[in-house]
Amino acid sequence: MTALAAVVLCAGKGTRMKSEKAKVLHPILGRPICAYPLKRALELGATSVVPVVGHQAAEVEKSIRAHFPDAPLRFALQKEQRGTADAVKAAQDALAGHEGRVLILYGDVPLLRKETLQALLSAHDAAGGALAMVSTTLEDPTGYGRVIREGGKVSRIVEHKDCTPEQRAVKECNAGIYSVEASFLWKALAEIKPVNAQGEYYLTDLVEMAARQGPVGAVDADATETAGVNDKVELAARARVLQQRINEAHMRAGVSIQDPATAYIEEGITIGTDTEIGPSVTLAAGTVVGKNVTIGQGSVLTASHVADGTHIKPYSVLEEARVGDRCIIGPFSRLRPGTELAEDVHLGNFVETKKARIGKGSKANHLTYLGDANIGAGCNIGAGTITCNYDGVNKHLTELGDGVFIGSDSQLVAPVKVGDGGYVGAGTTVTKNVPPGSLAVSRAPQVVKEGWVAAKKARQTKVKAG
Ligand code: UD1
Ligand code: CA
Repeated sequence: MTALAAVVLCAGKGTRMKSEKAKVLHPILGRPICAYPLKRALELGATSVVPVVGHQAAEVEKSIRAHFPDAPLRFALQKEQRGTADAVKAAQDALAGHEGRVLILYGDVPLLRKETLQALLSAHDAAGGALAMVSTTLEDPTGYGRVIREGGKVSRIVEHKDCTPEQRAVKECNAGIYSVEASFLWKALAEIKPVNAQGEYYLTDLVEMAARQGPVGAVDADATETAGVNDKVELAARARVLQQRINEAHMRAGVSIQDPATAYIEEGITIGTDTEIGPSVTLAAGTVVGKNVTIGQGSVLTASHVADGTHIKPYSVLEEARVGDRCIIGPFSRLRPGTELAEDVHLGNFVETKKARIGKGSKANHLTYLGDANIGAGCNIGAGTITCNYDGVNKHLTELGDGVFIGSDSQLVAPVKVGDGGYVGAGTTVTKNVPPGSLAVSRAPQVVKEGWVAAKKARQTKVKAG
C-alpha cells in the first residue's frame, strides 16, 4: 500500500459561533472539534497529517499540538480565505515529496467514522481514478454542492449558488471529503480559477477534472456523519450524537450506564465489564476503569486509573489518581494528582488527598486532608486529621508506618513520621517523630469543676436582681 497523507481544513473563523475562539477549537466531549477528524486520519495510518490553519492560527496550532503531542503533524498556513481549493493548496509545501493519496477532511466535521473513510479509500481503489469522494443525501440540500452524475457516474459538483433550477433539485450532496492522488492533486489545484458565483477557488472543481480522465469513486455516508458545526446549537447536537455513539459502544461491551443521556464518556476511555456508571458521571482524559466498578452519580474522573471491584460513591472527583482493587471512595471525596491507593482502601466524605500513597486496607473516612503523605497498610486515620504539609515555602512529607492509629482532629506537622503501630491521641498536634508502638498525645489536661453550671446560674441571677 502506498503512503497516505491527510489535509484537515481548520482555517475558518466560524462567525456564527459568536465567539472569540476559533470554531474548530470549541470542545465536544473534552476535545476540540478538529481533534476528531485529525484522530481519524491518524487511525487510518496517515504518515503526514497537515492541519491547515488561518484564523487564530497560533492558538489553533497550540491546541492541536497539545492534543497530539507525538503525532506526525505538519502545520500549513492559509493567510487569506480564498476558498477550499486555496486552503488545500496551502498544504502543498508541507506534503512535498509525498507520493500516494491525500485524504482531505474538514476540521469542523467531527462525527465522520473511521469505517466511512475506509470505505472511501476502498471506493478509490475500486474506481482506480485520481479521486474519490463522500456524498450524502439530504432532504433539504440548500447550500450544499450537488453531485451531478452522467449515466450514473459522477461527472462534477455544482455549488448551490451556481446551480440551474434543475440541478438544485438534486438531493445527492458533496460532503467535502475526498481521497485524491497527490500526482493529480497539485497539478489540478494550480489550474483552478475563481470563476463562479462566489469568486472563490473551489476545491469541487477537482471532481470534474478527475472525471475527465477516469472514473470518480463515491461513497454515500449518513448525513449525521458528514454534518459540520456552524453554531452552538449544532455543536451541542453533534456532541449528543457522539456521546450516544460512545455510550452505546460501552453498553454493547458489557458496561451498565444508568442514564446514557447524562453520562459523559470521552473517546478512548477503557471500562471493564459489569461496571456500573451512574447519572451525570464524567470519564475524561484517558481514564481507565476496571471490572465490577461502581461509579456513583455526579462523579468526575480525569486521567485516573480505577482497578476492579472499587466503589466510587456519588460526587467524588478524581484527577490523575490511581485506585486499587475493592476500594471504597466517597461520597464527596476528592483525589488529586499523585494519589495512589493500594487495595481495600476506604476514603469517605470530605476527604482530600494529594501526592498520597496509601497502603492496603487503610481508612480515612471523614473530613481529612492527606497531602504529601506515605501511609502504610492497615492504618486508621480519624475524622478531621490534617497533614500540615506546607510551611509557606516548601512542601514536606508525612510518613506513617503500618497499622498506625491517628485519633480524630490531629495535625501532622510535616516533615514527620509515625512508626509502625504508632498511636496518636485525638486532638494531638504531632510535631516530633513517633517511634513504632508509641503513643503521642499533646492535649492540655482536662479540668472538671463539679456543680459549676448551677453556680454560674446563681451568680447571673444575683446580678440581675441587684
Ligand atoms: C463546501 C463545498 C460544497 C460541500 C460543502 C459541504 C466547495 C467549493 N464547496 O462548501 O460542495 O457541499 O462544503 O459542507 O468546496 N475553509 C478554509 N479556507 C477557505 C475556505 C474554507 O479553511 O478558504 C474551510 C472552512 O473553514 C470549512 C471548510 O473549509 O471548514 C468548508 O468551507 P465552506 O466555505 O464552509 O464550504 P461550503 O460553502 O460549505
Ligand atoms: Ca459550510
